Amino acid sequence: MFRRIGNWIEDRTGIGELIGPVMSHLVPRGSAWLYVFGSATLFAFLLQVVTGIALSFVYVPSSSQAYESLKFITENSPLDHFLRSVHYFGATAMIVMVGLHMLRTFLFASYKYPREASWMSGTVLLFLTLAMGFTGQILRWDQTAIWSVVVGAQQAGYVPFIGPALARFMLAGESLGGQTLSQFFALHVFVFPVLITALLAPHLWMVIRNGISEPPKRGKPVDPTTYKEEYHQLLEKDGVPFWPDAAWRDVVFAVLMIVTIVGLAITLGPPHLVDAPNPTNLVTEPKPDFYLLWYFSVLALIPHAWTPYVIIGGPGIVFLVLFLLPLFARSGERHPLRRPWALGAVTVVIVGIGAFWSLATWEPWSPRYDAPPLSAQTIGNVSPEAQAGAVLFHDKGCIECHRIGNDGGFRGPNLTYVGNRLDARELTWRIANGGYNMPAFAKILSAKEMNDLVAFLETRKPALSATH
Ligand code: HEC
Repeated sequence: MFRRIGNWIEDRTGIGELIGPVMSHLVPRGSAWLYVFGSATLFAFLLQVVTGIALSFVYVPSSSQAYESLKFITENSPLDHFLRSVHYFGATAMIVMVGLHMLRTFLFASYKYPREASWMSGTVLLFLTLAMGFTGQILRWDQTAIWSVVVGAQQAGYVPFIGPALARFMLAGESLGGQTLSQFFALHVFVFPVLITALLAPHLWMVIRNGISEPPKRGKPVDPTTYKEEYHQLLEKDGVPFWPDAAWRDVVFAVLMIVTIVGLAITLGPPHLVDAPNPTNLVTEPKPDFYLLWYFSVLALIPHAWTPYVIIGGPGIVFLVLFLLPLFARSGERHPLRRPWALGAVTVVIVGIGAFWSLATWEPWSPRYDAPPLSAQTIGNVSPEAQAGAVLFHDKGCIECHRIGNDGGFRGPNLTYVGNRLDARELTWRIANGGYNMPAFAKILSAKEMNDLVAFLETRKPALSATH
């Protein structure tokens, strides 16, 4: 009975004819655990498709309801809470796996002849994966999400020539609104997944057509004129069938990965939602998930004038270098120990990203949202207006960025002695107009509030000058 059904299916579809050779094709022996990251990325992607579709049943992609629906998912529905959590850790896993896969193929120089196109399609897949991560974070539509878009569009707007068009594209219009969210939703659930799927097909096909690269041997360079011949001989002499000799590792690793994702999802839960989106509250600094965090820290720490170029040009240059790499290095040694430049580049990139990461967790450039009010001792003995100003200094969020005495953040200049530097007129002007990384408060403060704040800041002078 089963056999007859099986025969019918095979006769009408030829599915076995298609899969059989894929499973039984020979692969080089010794293709060990380091070769599992590609298939793990694929499994993570499939997990994302399944959990993403499930989430799309409850998520409302409208700028007035997205945040509320996510809050509902996170707080009121245990199954959706779990799904969102798996989707989050799945995204993390996919990014980590794609990174490891790339690191392995780079260190083993698997991008050399005849696998150049595999690497090039992989580069595009890497950037599409990052784009999925970025657009997914925007769909949370919380303070961080909307300010990532606003700040990104603002910076993109400064790029010469194409800037304004780029900014308009990011916002899907002249300003942030419902259409912005709709566009990010369409990109995240339709455009990028379809592009990923469409590119995965040739990416996987080429693995079968060209075979997976054999582990590199020292003193055995790739010579395009003889490589295919030699690879063929290697397989005939020493190859093993893909299934089960090589593929069992992929399966074991994928199962471990999914168990880890589910375990983390259950124990840690989905990422915390920050405040509801509030386009009038300028005093928030976007902070992305960890895999993009290092890049935000780069943007925060480079000189201001560079930001618009780096924000667009940086990823653009990295993409081009990676994409074109196999065309410039298609032959030669594959072993990492014979490629000092490659090893050096990997070290610099890993140390660099690590350094920016640790800077980002230290975050001197990020406001301190939890700064307590100024202490009575710091405020000192001042007039009632200045007292009121000291309270406003905390309540209006100035303290999140500015330090007075031992209280407050580091984002903006230290104001402990600002009364020495600026007079009342200058202070008013600064506060009303803001500056680089400081919001303009003209429309946020009433005239009285502005007066009180200025009165308070005027008293900020060294004790010595206050006494005479
Ligand atoms: C998001 C962070 C942030 C917040 C919130 C913020 N500032 Fe600033 N502030 C800055 C930065 C950054 C600068 C430097 C601006 C520049 O260089 O253009 C600055 C500059 C200033 C200056 C000029 C200081 C100088 O030495 O030149 C004053 C005064 C000031 N802020 C007061 C305030 C007051 C009052 C508030 C609250 C109503 C406030 N700031 C809120 C970031 C912030």
